[in-house]
Amino acid sequence: MVAVAILAAGRGTRMKSSLPKVLHPLGGKSMLERVLDSCALVQPSRYFVIVGYEAEAVKASLSHWDNIEFVLQAQQLGTGHAVQQLLPLLEGSEEDVLILNGDVPLLRQETLQELIETHQTNRNAATLLTAKLDNPKGYGRVFCDETNQVQKIIEDRDCTPEQKLNQRINAGVYCFNWGKLGEILPHLSAENDQKEYYLTDVFTSLSPVMAMDVADLEEISGINNRKQLANAYTVFQQRIKEKWLLAGVTLIDPDSITIDETVELSPDVTIEPQTHLRGKTVVGSGCRIGPGSMIENSQLGENVTVLYSVLTDSTVEAETKVGPYAHLRGKVSVGAGCRVGNFVEMKNTQLGEKCNVAHLSYLGDATLGNQVNIGAGTITANYDGMNKHPTVLGNNCKTGSNSVLVAPVTLGDDVTVAAGSVVTADVESDALVIARSRQVVKPHWHLKQ
Ligand code: UD1
Ligand code: CA
Repeated sequence: MVAVAILAAGRGTRMKSSLPKVLHPLGGKSMLERVLDSCALVQPSRYFVIVGYEAEAVKASLSHWDNIEFVLQAQQLGTGHAVQQLLPLLEGSEEDVLILNGDVPLLRQETLQELIETHQTNRNAATLLTAKLDNPKGYGRVFCDETNQVQKIIEDRDCTPEQKLNQRINAGVYCFNWGKLGEILPHLSAENDQKEYYLTDVFTSLSPVMAMDVADLEEISGINNRKQLANAYTVFQQRIKEKWLLAGVTLIDPDSITIDETVELSPDVTIEPQTHLRGKTVVGSGCRIGPGSMIENSQLGENVTVLYSVLTDSTVEAETKVGPYAHLRGKVSVGAGCRVGNFVEMKNTQLGEKCNVAHLSYLGDATLGNQVNIGAGTITANYDGMNKHPTVLGNNCKTGSNSVLVAPVTLGDDVTVAAGSVVTADVESDALVIARSRQVVKPHWHLKQ
């Protein structure tokens, strides 16, 4: 068993943001939460998060995690000082402690497990993740002896020009034997360029310390500025897209597509360019989504097509065609075999099977039966300025072009609404409703000169 401690007290000055760095989102979750997620496989005995800058905001961001022990680092005097705050909490512990920077969000769960295994089989005092980078600028450099034992780490800004040539960097991911670390921690000094207490200074006094090179360099990217955050998002997206491509999903122009990790796709789904899938979205087999669509927290049955449309919190059953230019929001459900599109907005509306809402409509708070045809320009007037009201249409209803259904209003089955009607009262089944003024024609009429 290991405990885990995540350093999340720093402000992250280089982000140039009022939001603490670790709360910056990476694909719908904060960086800090991604670091916590990376520990899942390791199943830590305790989770410590060290907070300081905007501590309350950081705590609040993790309110849905119930097993976190927050440790306050009132002043941010460096990473070593941050870990010193654990001393009273882990006094006498001989446990191993995984220490992670809160700004290294792309770590794989398997990598952390391997780190701990290496640490424990070799009975190391500490084991840390390292990598050889072409551009090691900004990272602490790791110096090892000929047996690959870590001797010291020197921060980039404290390196001599010669030391800067060392390309082996510290990832900020460590497993420590707490008994041994605890003895050294109180004796750190702040004699360096930043006048901070560096955690990395403990390595001059610890042994044996092993460096473990990671295979995938992207995993250990530390995020200090927004450029690095943007790059991390690209890597994060590449991982998700690779997974779906190998699972039988076609992505056309993948670079222009974004997919949240919470999305579920089926084999033989095709995602066209400039399409974004967000939240708890589920897409059935044979669907064709895009180009130019955004789908959030929505469920699509099999063989649905969505073209240049926006869907939020909605359900669309099999074989339905959505778009071009439809907007479904606020709990819309569309039955199988429907057609919805060409400048149609629907909100909190249910459609049965084989309905058409094909042109220029707004349906809000409406419930439609099966095989309803909504004529071009039909609008539900669902809002009286104070409250929203429902509109109900039975099976096989047809509304003529440009009709207004003034809610609350109910139409039975097989009701036909004449074009241009303003329907203000309920209509029984099997009826034609004409609610407009009769056409008047005055023959041989001219404007008086
Ligand atoms: C650190 C390492 C560096 C390594 C790099 C990897 C040190 C001294 N340096 O540098 O060797 O290559 O990470 O990304 O450890 N934090 C606190 N309290 C503090 C200061 C920082 O909690 O007083 C937290 C920050 O919120 C952040 C993490 O520690 O999550 C790392 O701090 P940061 O200032 O980004 O360290 P680096 O300069 O990147
Ligand atoms: Ca950093």
